[in-house]
Amino acid sequence: MNISAITSVFFSPSGGTHRTIKILASALPLPAQELDLTPFSKHKESRCFASDELVIFAVPVYAGRIVPLAAERLAHMKGSQTPAVCLAVYGNRAYEDALLELTDLVQKNGFVPFAAAAALAEHSIMHSVAHGRPDEKDAQKLMTFAQQVWQKLEQVPHADGLKLPPVPGKRPYKPFKAVGFVPAVSSACTRCGRCAARCPSGAISPACPDKTDKARCIFCMGCISVCPVQARHINKALLWAAEKAFALKFGERKEPEFFL
Ligand SMILES: Cc1cc2nc3c(=O)[nH]c(=O)nc-3n(C[C@H](O)[C@H](O)[C@H](O)COP(=O)(O)O)c2cc1C
Repeated sequence: MNISAITSVFFSPSGGTHRTIKILASALPLPAQELDLTPFSKHKESRCFASDELVIFAVPVYAGRIVPLAAERLAHMKGSQTPAVCLAVYGNRAYEDALLELTDLVQKNGFVPFAAAAALAEHSIMHSVAHGRPDEKDAQKLMTFAQQVWQKLEQVPHADGLKLPPVPGKRPYKPFKAVGFVPAVSSACTRCGRCAARCPSGAISPACPDKTDKARCIFCMGCISVCPVQARHINKALLWAAEKAFALKFGERKEPEFFL
């Protein structure tokens, strides 16, 4: 089939999912437009895609699921039998039901998911786990996958001829239960507001960026990743202990998995 446009739709508080989708999109023959659904300002963004477009969806895995906030935003993306590629990006523990949930969600919204991948990115809390990923080896695999995606599209006249092989995961999905750390703010904060602009949940008000609404925080670490003066942080002792235990259990390198 002929594809007129490609759009990368993603949610990526600390940037790993964005880096991954960018690598994938870079190996496709048309330039991809980016639609970043991460900032709170995008929580009502809605888009309709035509049947001759290709949409790549990418979300991070939280507690083996799609973070509900991202799922809500993706629900405003509507397809008309639009072919879609689904990408779940995780931090070397497990992706459990997240990829299945993503493919189900986009299918419900009028897309035809025909290719999917579970890819690795640096763990956004435990940075020593999957450190530096996606790396060169990941990039090669993602780019080969992108070429296969395009070949699969070229082999059919319409999206209804596309099929997705089964992806891992169980229905009903495991209950979503993400636990995490709410970042603290030190006196180094210059109130520049970058954290508030990145925060996906509206937990940081632009007027008071040195505060975090604990009830709204989704523990995504986005604010820490954009702070230019490292004023936002997690309690070092707590993190050190948690990271040590986590790395022992989940430190062994996992490889991306592709379904098409
Ligand atoms: C609250 C939270 C929960 C997470 N849960 C998982 C998980 O269940 N499995 C896993 O392998 N990684 C998990 N991660 C790691 C992220 O999936 C991974 O770092 C991802 O790349 C983050 O995407 P981003 O950099 O685009 O924000 C979690 C991260 C956070 C912040």
